[in-house]
Amino acid sequence: MLLLALGGDIRAEPSTRVAWTPENLRFVQNGDAAKGHEIAQSCDGCHAASPENAQTPYPSLHGQSATYLYKQLRDYKDGSRASDIMAAFAANLSDQDMADVAVWYSRKTAPSAPAAVGVPEAIEQLVERGDGRRVLAPCAVCHGRSGQGQAVDNPALAGQQAEYLEQTLSAYQSGARHNDLYGRMRLIAQQLSAEEIKQLARYYARSGR
Ligand code: HEC
Ligand code: HEC
Repeated sequence: MLLLALGGDIRAEPSTRVAWTPENLRFVQNGDAAKGHEIAQSCDGCHAASPENAQTPYPSLHGQSATYLYKQLRDYKDGSRASDIMAAFAANLSDQDMADVAVWYSRKTAPSAPAAVGVPEAIEQLVERGDGRRVLAPCAVCHGRSGQGQAVDNPALAGQQAEYLEQTLSAYQSGARHNDLYGRMRLIAQQLSAEEIKQLARYYARSGR
């Protein structure tokens, strides 16, 4: 009953306007990394993976899939994903700029992190096996066995900032973030406790790809 009610909500308006047609895929894959490098000068202040940035709540973009990054930029620009900071930056980018900068960041080395230690076994189980009682699919099915992400728009999570992961999972849970196609992440996050969200964020922030 609850799920049906949520499903109704989620279908009420489109979560994103990005459709992965073969043309769109080709368009992103053919982004110009050199032009993207120039654009990234105005992004690196917050998004460079440097030791100084390691504790910030800004997500790392390095090694993230180009298609995922492109989709997020389009979503920020048309308001499908809300963020005052990112709406201001995305407003200045054309579709071509977004493809270029997405390809640039996707080719950078992914953040490395020491292997996750001290993670409760229940969290590892959620990641690898899910939870049949809550009809929770394993995170690894979509995000990859080592959190490396997967085509087309399943983002890499390994090595991502813990604070950002926790904040964005909570935003899916409350519905503040609602740009996930078919409401996949909202339905999952709604079934997690605050403690599980915190631990899952720690787990992925500390895992290497
Ligand atoms: C002043 C800091 C700042 C600058 C500069 C900035 N960003 Fe961001 N960016 C953020 C923050 C904060 C978020 C997380 C917002 C949210 O919660 O949705 C973010 C999120 C993103 C995301 C989504 C990441 C994910 O994992 O979903 C992308 C893609 C992105 N930024 C690209 C860019 C690009 C490209 C530029 C340059 C044109 C840029 N950003 C400039 C602060 C910044
Ligand atoms: C059915 C596939 C699927 C499963 C299962 C799944 N995810 Fe996701 N997840 C996605 C997709 C697709 C997105 C990107 C949605 C969008 O465009 O905003 C995403 C986005 C995310 C993000 C945002 C990443 C960023 O950079 O902003 C986090 C964090 C996340 N998932 C964590 C999890 C965790 C933890 C689990 C397991 C409890 C999980 N996901 C299970 C498909 C899935």
